[in-house]
Amino acid sequence: MSSPIQPLVFAMVGLPARGKTYMARKLARYLRWRGLNARVFNVGNYRRERLGSGQKADFFDPTNATGVEARRRMALEALDDVFRWVRGGGEIAIYDATNGTRERRDLIVKRCESAGVPVIFVESVCSDPALVEENVRETKISSPDYAGIDPDQAVSDFRARIKMYESAYETLGDDETHRSWVKIVDVGRQVVANRIGGYVPSRLVYYLMNLHLAPRDIWLTRHGESAFNVKGLLGGDPGLSARGAQYAKALAVELPKRVQGTPKLWTSTLQRTVNTAKGLPWEPLALRALDEIDAGVCDGWTYALVKERMPAEFAARKADKLRYRYPRGESYQDVIGRLNPVIIELERSKQPVVIVAHQAVLRALYAYLAGRTPEECPHLEMPLHTLIQLRPKAYGCEERRFPIPVSDF
Ligand code: F6P
Repeated sequence: MSSPIQPLVFAMVGLPARGKTYMARKLARYLRWRGLNARVFNVGNYRRERLGSGQKADFFDPTNATGVEARRRMALEALDDVFRWVRGGGEIAIYDATNGTRERRDLIVKRCESAGVPVIFVESVCSDPALVEENVRETKISSPDYAGIDPDQAVSDFRARIKMYESAYETLGDDETHRSWVKIVDVGRQVVANRIGGYVPSRLVYYLMNLHLAPRDIWLTRHGESAFNVKGLLGGDPGLSARGAQYAKALAVELPKRVQGTPKLWTSTLQRTVNTAKGLPWEPLALRALDEIDAGVCDGWTYALVKERMPAEFAARKADKLRYRYPRGESYQDVIGRLNPVIIELERSKQPVVIVAHQAVLRALYAYLAGRTPEECPHLEMPLHTLIQLRPKAYGCEERRFPIPVSDF
């Protein structure tokens, strides 16, 4: 997914508390990680900024003419900003609003056509009341709309707001088959794609199909110190040093104490990760996609040797570590590209996942999970002998780091 691409608008559709903002933010994060310029335009934020938060449920009543007009104005202001942003080089705009009537979608399509930007609707439908309730409790009562309000009161006002929207809501249906859309029912239980073509849209449908909200942890660790780490050499397939072997032992004691349930355990195909995971009580899966960045002709060299023998290459990497590709090797961007299937599997998994891998690969995975930019990715801190626990939440990721001192073992 690299530029130049045809700019696109993804317009969310759905009643309140159907996970639209969750999906919108995840999509934007994923696209940015893949190197695209993506941004969410949340109409609710326009309303809060311009009219203040704290609008009661009756503001959203479709028979309240003042409310309807105000909401329409906010929606169009946000859409104008989408087009301004696209004209300034934006690539994928995610227009996050309910867009729950045929009339509103007609208007969006008309405006997008005049601006020359195709639009794809992404509807989230939930038939499971428990999912809706969970979403209300998880995300809505902490929204600025309910700052300082008693949580039970906030929940009941939000339920009333949903009712208002329900009375006018029209799902994407048979009379809109000439348009491009995807409908996701009950967080991926069923997915209907209509007139979806092209690389980016099809990729995004595939991505959305695999999202879920079940809580689980993702554990990341580099392999234990290797014989190459001791000498400062790049790449290779060395074994563990004595300290690295101690880390493997320590990990086998510490990690099972912290992981809840039975996790998936993934390593690279290189012996330093396979050996680090050896003592863990779970079945490992070795994935090539998790192998360390390929340093090409510099494999087995020190940084000092690269600088001495290939000063121009050394300088080029320093100047742009994200895009720099080692001669006959890889760049960080290449690594991000090959990790895409790992990200899809990570998203899909309802079990915890433990990943034992390498510095560059873990930086790339962490950048996605923690929502860091590709530019930051090659410079992220990823120390040896440290366990990283990531807990994906609706709108972000909680993180804890546990250094494991090998001298204790
Ligand atoms: O030094 C350990 C290592 O995993 C090397 O094998 C790899 O080339 C390097 O880290 C990646 O880090 P950086 O991109 O900072 O050179």
